[in-house]
Amino acid sequence: MKKEISAVYSGSFDPPTNGHLDIIIRASHLFPKIIVAVTENINKKYTFSLRERIVLLQKITKGLKNTKIVSFSGLLADYVEQINSFVLIRGLRAISDFEYEFQMALMNRKLNKKIETIFLMTDQRYTFLSSSMVKEIAILGGDTKDFVPKYVEKELKKRVVDLSKRNNEK
Ligand code: COA
Repeated sequence: MKKEISAVYSGSFDPPTNGHLDIIIRASHLFPKIIVAVTENINKKYTFSLRERIVLLQKITKGLKNTKIVSFSGLLADYVEQINSFVLIRGLRAISDFEYEFQMALMNRKLNKKIETIFLMTDQRYTFLSSSMVKEIAILGGDTKDFVPKYVEKELKKRVVDLSKRNNEK
């Protein structure tokens, strides 16, 4: 592996979960620098703004010195060209992720032939996790402490209260 190589882990992280953090930590052991690139997926509606998601990620990765949180817009294939970093990290939770990930890896490579995607298997405790599911649990009053870092749990609780206040005012 080239010594100076950095890797990009992109996603919407709305909110970041223990599953995301697990992948970031694993990647941080393999590469000298991890760039966690937060973006807006045009197919999604967000609970946390881009700025808020960046802050959440900064807080939960504070102890990881080789991790940097950034945001980008547009194609990931173009963004990696701008920062000259062509390794993409993706987490695999289950076989069901594979087809979508395979398609995305090949599409990214088609868009930018320098890109290589590296898949890391998530810890088995997090194979069933997704950000939407965690949000749904929080909204319905369930306990999310096993699924998200403490700071995210606290901010998610606050957001759920704000959202329900706003809905009641309507
Ligand atoms: N642990 C827990 N949850 C995980 C996870 C893990 N290891 N890996 C993925 N997930 C969850 C995510 O939280 C997300 O949940 P949600 O749908 O409930 O929000 C879901 O699985 C899907 O994750 P992902 O595929 O990473 O979606 P995303 O919206 O976070 O990011 C990308 C989508 C990768 C397309 C986006 O980050 C991107 O790169 N956009 C740029 C535009 C672009 O280039 N598009 C063309 C790509 S070919």
